Amino acid sequence: MIGIETDTAAIIAREGQYIAQTYKRPPFALVRGAGVHVYDADGGRYTDWVAGIAVNALGYADPALDEALRAQLDTGLIHVSNLYHTAPHVLVAEKLVGGCFADRVFFCNSGAEANEGAIKFARKFARSAGAPATKTDIVTFTGGFHGRTIGALSVTPKAAYQAPFAPLMAGVKVAEFNDIESARALIDGDTCAVIVEPVQGEGGIHPATAEFLAALRDLCDQYGALLIFDEVQCGVGRTGHLWAHQSGTTTPDIMTTAKPLAGGLPVGAILCTSAVADALAPGDHGSTFAGSPLVMSAALTVLDRVAADDFLAHVRAVGAYLLERLATLTHDCIVDVRGRGLMVALELNKPAAPIIERGYEHGLLLVNAGANVLRFVPPLIVERAHVDQLIDTLQIILGD
Ligand SMILES: Cc1ncc(COP(=O)(O)O)c(C=O)c1O
Repeated sequence: MIGIETDTAAIIAREGQYIAQTYKRPPFALVRGAGVHVYDADGGRYTDWVAGIAVNALGYADPALDEALRAQLDTGLIHVSNLYHTAPHVLVAEKLVGGCFADRVFFCNSGAEANEGAIKFARKFARSAGAPATKTDIVTFTGGFHGRTIGALSVTPKAAYQAPFAPLMAGVKVAEFNDIESARALIDGDTCAVIVEPVQGEGGIHPATAEFLAALRDLCDQYGALLIFDEVQCGVGRTGHLWAHQSGTTTPDIMTTAKPLAGGLPVGAILCTSAVADALAPGDHGSTFAGSPLVMSAALTVLDRVAADDFLAHVRAVGAYLLERLATLTHDCIVDVRGRGLMVALELNKPAAPIIERGYEHGLLLVNAGANVLRFVPPLIVERAHVDQLIDTLQIILGD
């Protein structure tokens, strides 16, 4: 290797000089990964309970994923733009609609971009249905997170994220999560869409109840609003179902997905019914990189693996084991253990940040979801033995 790749101090010093300072990073640099482990430049090994923030569903150095990428590279086509026909995005779209309520897919490059598109699709749907020009309101929920771009940020009701960037998009109303009366009071004829995470991620791993989602569906139908499920974090097998909402019977009009879909390459997708897709015309929306052959070859591999019954059964089994083992921890600082599949939270009565730092010393990558919540969103290939190791370490570091 050449350059600074193995020199931790140099990497960190130059990061401070050249990278916009919007993240606080721990004092090591990751250089490779295998399975559920990543390695730093000084040879340290970490078991990864973060997976690049709920992204690396197949872990690191998955042979089938690597092979699919190499095969696509061999064709010479990384990217050609959406001006031309290519096969891989068609195959991924076919698989996506085959596994859920949707009829059509629009690809993009991130979760925020998927939610931006979903907002635009909802507005266009209202307009093409002949609704008054005032039908542009979006109802969102406390604790929701939908991304950092202006539209997605506008429906992410967290003051620390929003305040420095005001004014945001107009017409956003915030209801209480899992409180249908609160939503009923805000949804009306001017509502073009309701956006909700079936399991809130950044907000602290809070599942929506089946009754809440069903009642939102009814309210949307009553007022001609679209129901948008944001499955950017909870989708693609994370909860032990291909899509989190499939643990119940309520379906949306639009669903957004991103994070794990292409095994770590940037991707997003907006899935929708044909009624929504029919409201769109050429030129309404676009994206230069979206659906590129290289990214889609990865997505095809991820979907093939993750949608398999035995893979989803593994997620449910290891997730249940994780919940069961976390529940055996008896430290006074523990307030709650909750989650679905491999999207699990340990809520504390104190800040999670010092625990995360102690985790590094014990070879664990951990992440929070809010100040007091430790969030476990590992590669979906994690095994019970890794859970045992996690619990042994938590036993020690929670008591410090
Ligand atoms: C539910 C949800 N929606 C949207 C986003 C934004 O995704 P991205 O960071 O890819 O823009 C996130 C990211 O954490 C998320 O958890």
